[in-house]
Amino acid sequence: MSVKNADTINITPFYHQDTGTWSYIVTDTVTQVCAIIDPVLDFDLPSGQAHYESAKALIEHVKQHQLKLEWILETHAHADHLTAAQYIKQTLGGKIVIGAGIKDVQQHFATSLNLDLPVDGSQFDILMHQGDTLALGESHFVAHPTPGHTDDSMSYEIAGNIFIGDTFFHPDLGTARCDFPGGSAEKLFDSLTFLTSFPENYNLWLCHDYPKDREAVARTTVAEQKNNVHFKQSGGNPIAYAELRNKRDSTLNVPRLIYPSLQVNIRAGNFPESESNGRKYLKLPFSVE
Ligand SMILES: [Fe+2]
Repeated sequence: MSVKNADTINITPFYHQDTGTWSYIVTDTVTQVCAIIDPVLDFDLPSGQAHYESAKALIEHVKQHQLKLEWILETHAHADHLTAAQYIKQTLGGKIVIGAGIKDVQQHFATSLNLDLPVDGSQFDILMHQGDTLALGESHFVAHPTPGHTDDSMSYEIAGNIFIGDTFFHPDLGTARCDFPGGSAEKLFDSLTFLTSFPENYNLWLCHDYPKDREAVARTTVAEQKNNVHFKQSGGNPIAYAELRNKRDSTLNVPRLIYPSLQVNIRAGNFPESESNGRKYLKLPFSVE
């Protein structure tokens, strides 16, 4: 599936079945420059084995269409999958971009996982603030902070499209959880309200979909998300929404890949240093009740 917008922007979604994640390649068809959004690194938790099959599909698309990769955009530091941003940068070039709130996320997890790493965002090439822009040929991305799921959550708007990260899910499935460190149901409600303030025909591209008895959906619209089930259940009331969201979050399990994901993702896709035996390890916090 490939969708053309504003005549010169082409959007190709890629679905990662194992984690229900959407990655995107956004191309300016005049200049053939492109951006990759939220690329996934395949990871097998029991063996600790990562591989590049999904990243290679993105790379193949770029090569096949003879595109020049300018930007690798992260909508946030994901807790449910590992990013392939570093591998893609090393293979195709491009700059890795994330919201400036990543510094808070790094600070939190460097402390809670006792990691030795800079917490100034320096692993990334560009830290985005509200209203910052990135050129993509004749168009440009505009950064809109949409916190709530995480503190660093950033949506990227280009030519009538917004890549919304973990804010809205499919209208039938609701909205993103807010119980991670720095998460806030009140902030997410404000972010959702902000996203629905765009014209009704704007495309809102999802970061995830978890379909049970239908095909995975990448593209929704502002009009469709005004009928998002969590919006409807809360009657558009921020207090009712926060109550609903927090109650639901209290029932959710810790994501399967949260610890591997964060240790790689807050390093911009770099892996931990090798230990004295030449192997790399990922940490798991341990406690007993
Ligand atoms: Fe997320």
